[in-house]
Amino acid sequence: MCGIFAYLNYRVPRTRKEIFDTLVKGLQRLEYRGYDSAGIAVDGTRKEGNGSICLFKKRGKVKALDEVLCKNDSIYLDAELDVHFGIAHTRWATHGEPSAVNSHPHRSDKNNEFVVIHNGIITNYKELRKYLNSKGYEFESDTDTEVIPKLIKYLYDNREHDFVSFSTLVERVIQQLEGAFALVFKSIHFPGEAIATRRGSPLLIGVRSKYELSRDQIPIQYNGDFIGGVQKKNFRNRVDSSTSLHSVCDRKAVEFYFASDASAIIEHTNKVVYLEDDDIAAVAEGKLSLHRVSRSAGEESARVIQTLQMELQQIMKGNFKAFMQKEIFEQPESVFNTMRGRICFDTNTVVLGGLKDHLKEIRRCRRLIIIGCGTSFHAGVATRQILEELTELPVMVELASDFLDRITPVFRDDVCFFISQSGETADTLMALRYCKDRGALTVGVTNTVGSSICRETDCGVHINAGPEIGVASTKAYTSQFVALIMFALMMSEDRLSLQKRRLEIISGLRQLPALIKQVLALDEHIKSIAEELYQQRSLLVMGRGYNYATCLEGALKIKEITYMHSEGILAGELKHGPLALIDKDMPVIMVVMRDACYTKCHNALQQVTARQGRPIIICCRDDPEITRCAYKNVELPQTVDCLQGILSVIPLQLLSFHLAVLRGYDVDCPRNLAKSVTVE
Ligand code: G6P
Repeated sequence: MCGIFAYLNYRVPRTRKEIFDTLVKGLQRLEYRGYDSAGIAVDGTRKEGNGSICLFKKRGKVKALDEVLCKNDSIYLDAELDVHFGIAHTRWATHGEPSAVNSHPHRSDKNNEFVVIHNGIITNYKELRKYLNSKGYEFESDTDTEVIPKLIKYLYDNREHDFVSFSTLVERVIQQLEGAFALVFKSIHFPGEAIATRRGSPLLIGVRSKYELSRDQIPIQYNGDFIGGVQKKNFRNRVDSSTSLHSVCDRKAVEFYFASDASAIIEHTNKVVYLEDDDIAAVAEGKLSLHRVSRSAGEESARVIQTLQMELQQIMKGNFKAFMQKEIFEQPESVFNTMRGRICFDTNTVVLGGLKDHLKEIRRCRRLIIIGCGTSFHAGVATRQILEELTELPVMVELASDFLDRITPVFRDDVCFFISQSGETADTLMALRYCKDRGALTVGVTNTVGSSICRETDCGVHINAGPEIGVASTKAYTSQFVALIMFALMMSEDRLSLQKRRLEIISGLRQLPALIKQVLALDEHIKSIAEELYQQRSLLVMGRGYNYATCLEGALKIKEITYMHSEGILAGELKHGPLALIDKDMPVIMVVMRDACYTKCHNALQQVTARQGRPIIICCRDDPEITRCAYKNVELPQTVDCLQGILSVIPLQLLSFHLAVLRGYDVDCPRNLAKSVTVE
């Protein structure tokens, strides 16, 4: 999905090269979201009066854009700018093919008077375009976004008074927009100023007011307090050019970072402000002010500066080839972090702080509805059975888009769970608003603190898996799984008849990180299986009961990053169609665990081998009856039936990773896919 990054330095001297590097690095941190082109806007050389804005846009990777910037000789890279605002964007094509002209920043006119970067979709762009066309504004791209810079220029050209503030113009623009957006504006009429706003798409601003010294800087003190630093060479220049030390010291140096997600900001500062819908954030003269469109003029909205908990190393790849691989191997810790401080293994109690005040209400509800997309939906499928067993409530598991398409009846006594790694998925967010409107209690299960789903639900659980960068979700799935199991355990705390079962599960959870490590140790073996399979066109994954979700999730991983056709099949449906696919050439993976479905899975296995199928079997250790039938097998440690899916999905995550590498694909950024799907 598109990515926004922008950088404003105020009284922090930066060369143009440094500014480019900061913008490019910001975009690289957003690459994982998926994109097909990238662009940047910076100040050009100053002519008389207003400055100019230069645009650099390129189809393809950020690296290609960076090469264009480095080779560009029309712009003086060593020039040092005391105050500057640069904006940057990665585009994921929706309206119009991937191309330089369709990529952002979009501009108001050939002089680049206003430039804009946008995430989201403007649904009334056709009407706006028609109107602006009729006023003589010419369009150059096929995008919905381009109406925005044209509209702001139209409002500027037709202003009633000579002076109009930048934020007033933006306010008037967004009053005309329908759809979803996060926007950042830059203009030659308002040099050094930045305006950011959002509705429906995430946007945050990082603030660094006391910047750390780099090696080539010297500290500046004022009245004994450290207030910043200047580059050694510049410091000398300033003194030489008779700028007094006092005036250098007196400056309030500040830097602002605007981004669609925190991973692009964290390396610069952990002080951030999350914008809310219809907030307009303006930076002028190094000061940030915020107000909300619907409020009375001048009223500032109170937003606290939050401190991000993320560590830079958490988003770095380390020794791994890809973020996805790193995230698969992080699962012993991420799953542990989901449980940390919530399960007390001495007293066998489970407390989810974000839910405990709502527990009574949840226990009284008519049914639980679990809603998500992609992998997050699979986490609901995986835990449905144990939720039904431990809560004794009917549980529906729904794909957000289908749930909305059906206009599903929802009532005040329903409890609706919204499962989302990013907390920003458009369909899930819309389903949340739909359920809220109908009076249901809404619960968020997300991995992103401060995300829209987090903020808009009545209560919730953070899965605490740490940032997930690879587009194909892995550690978020196992942590969502554990979070939902913990919820089921909390719900059943008072039920005497369920105590034995609860204790068995809690003890299984305790062992889980160690068992995950044992599964990860099978990596080489799984790689050897991938070496046999990677040239195949198709791969079926079959199982049932607790492991049906494993098959769906495994098949999703395979299709997402290897581009092989892959299907997760419920073994109970084998005779109703899929059996027709089986022959000696069709690769089939079967998940056969020692649980209540064991015999039925064994039967399915025999049906497959009877048709010369050569199954690769994921099973429990020491099960000769099963391994006898296997062409290859992956033997896993056994755990409690309802937790087994956490272990059995890992070989499929690893397999998809190795298949993608062998097929030569970009594991972290699969074609056509985005990490966070913030449009319908
Ligand atoms: C996209 C991602 C998937 C993810 C799904 C739901 O399709 O590529 O990996 O499972 O969105 O995302 P969420 O952030 O809501 O879990």
